[in-house]
Amino acid sequence: MTRKAFFLHSYGCQMNKLDSELVASKLQQAGYRAAASEGEADVVLLNTCAVREHAEDRVWSRLGRLRQRKRRDPALVVGVLGCMAEEHQRTLQARMPHVDLVVGPSAFGDIDQKLEQVFQSARRRAGLELGESWRRGAGVVAAGHGVSGDVVHREVGVRPQRSQAYVSVMRGCNMPCTYCIVPATRGKEISRSIDDIVAETRRLCDDGVTEVTLLGQTVNAYGRDLGRGVTLARLLRALHEIDGLRRLAFITSHPNFLSAELIDALAELPKIARYLHLPAQSGSDAVLKTMRRGYTVARYLRRWEDLMARCPDVELHSDWIVGYPGETESDVDGTVALMERVRFAQSYVFKYSPRPGTVAAGLCDDVPDAVKAERNQRLLAVQERLTAERNLALVGSVQEVLVEGPSPRDPERLTGRTAHHRIVHFPAVGRDLVGQYVPVRIDAAAAHSLLGSRVVESVAR
Ligand code: SAH
Ligand code: SF4
Ligand code: F3S
Repeated sequence: MTRKAFFLHSYGCQMNKLDSELVASKLQQAGYRAAASEGEADVVLLNTCAVREHAEDRVWSRLGRLRQRKRRDPALVVGVLGCMAEEHQRTLQARMPHVDLVVGPSAFGDIDQKLEQVFQSARRRAGLELGESWRRGAGVVAAGHGVSGDVVHREVGVRPQRSQAYVSVMRGCNMPCTYCIVPATRGKEISRSIDDIVAETRRLCDDGVTEVTLLGQTVNAYGRDLGRGVTLARLLRALHEIDGLRRLAFITSHPNFLSAELIDALAELPKIARYLHLPAQSGSDAVLKTMRRGYTVARYLRRWEDLMARCPDVELHSDWIVGYPGETESDVDGTVALMERVRFAQSYVFKYSPRPGTVAAGLCDDVPDAVKAERNQRLLAVQERLTAERNLALVGSVQEVLVEGPSPRDPERLTGRTAHHRIVHFPAVGRDLVGQYVPVRIDAAAAHSLLGSRVVESVAR
């Protein structure tokens, strides 16, 4: 019998991307094969995101298209994984009855067995539903705390990049941010042990990984549920000992947990990437307060100053929400002022999207969409200027670039990232340099990337 093929679509954050790799790893171990395209797959899985309405809309419309396909091909198995699976278990079954499998983000560790149940159910019912123009889904649902993804014995070879990998260090989030659906979809914080994380990272490095990015919704709160003084700083020190590892990053940090101990680790450990994703969300105390973020602008700045005093080369990245209920123009002025003060290297700006069941969903979503769009553009323009200034300051310097592959737009160039996570393109062809750390002299700055030329070692000396 030929092996069944699966195709996985991933939406959402890096944690979801990693979860998709873990699902793929589990399915391959169970004898499935990865299909080259959705069209040839027996099983189509959508690993979904619920953070904003827009993210959900993309999934609803893809599910609509899959329903069409299932009319022609009733054997097709459709599964919804991830945050929407947790959030919309019931709606999904009512609105999309052709869906066979619904598995939340804390319950996919035994995805292969769940899929087997779907196939058994389909076999049992084969022939019973000939009157239907499409097959009703098998109705296998697993939400809440099932078998966590972190118990999956990771097939380290299943990863998109040879030299880079994500490693989950904790799941869930205990923070009370009023706008956010993540604590509802991902549950309470659960940290993995240092030993497990070190062992997984070692296996990845033995398989050729040199850059690891640790993942957690509040990654710098890592360990607080474990007690015994387990912290992210201690984890970083343990991972730093791994020989093959050259770069170590971690996302996403919360301003309230940027401790002196963590700043020491950043200052002392040369392998740690020189950027920190530390979302401020807003530069207005009034907005931060109603968001229940737990800090003021002054407190955020104090943490940043402590960091700069020890690690002046570390750059900050942020997320911002515009159009939160009650946000005024002068609140947005505050955000612009904070952006300019810290001179963030990168920002993601999101229009506020009410999420059913959150505290903020009970407030009036009173900023019109056109105003949200205008504020979004305003912040993006500020960030573009800040990024351009920082990029320009790098022209003439030599940066160490981890080469990721050919440039998507120009096959005559290779693309990689600096220790600050900046994208650099430089002329070179072939795959020989992919996965290497190459010195590149920066010749010019574009809007979102740098252009450079490779420094040949003998010339550099
Ligand atoms: N744990 C991370 C990321 C959470 S989701 C953190 O705490 O920073 C990623 C980003 O989506 C958030 O930082 C926030 O800026 C944005 N976001 C979350 N909920 C949102 C909502 N309801 N509307 C718009 N943006 C939202
Ligand atoms: Fe959401 Fe706040 Fe948790 Fe981030 S810290 S995931 S924004 S609740
Ligand atoms: Fe989205 Fe869930 Fe990540 S809601 S942002 S996929 S944690």
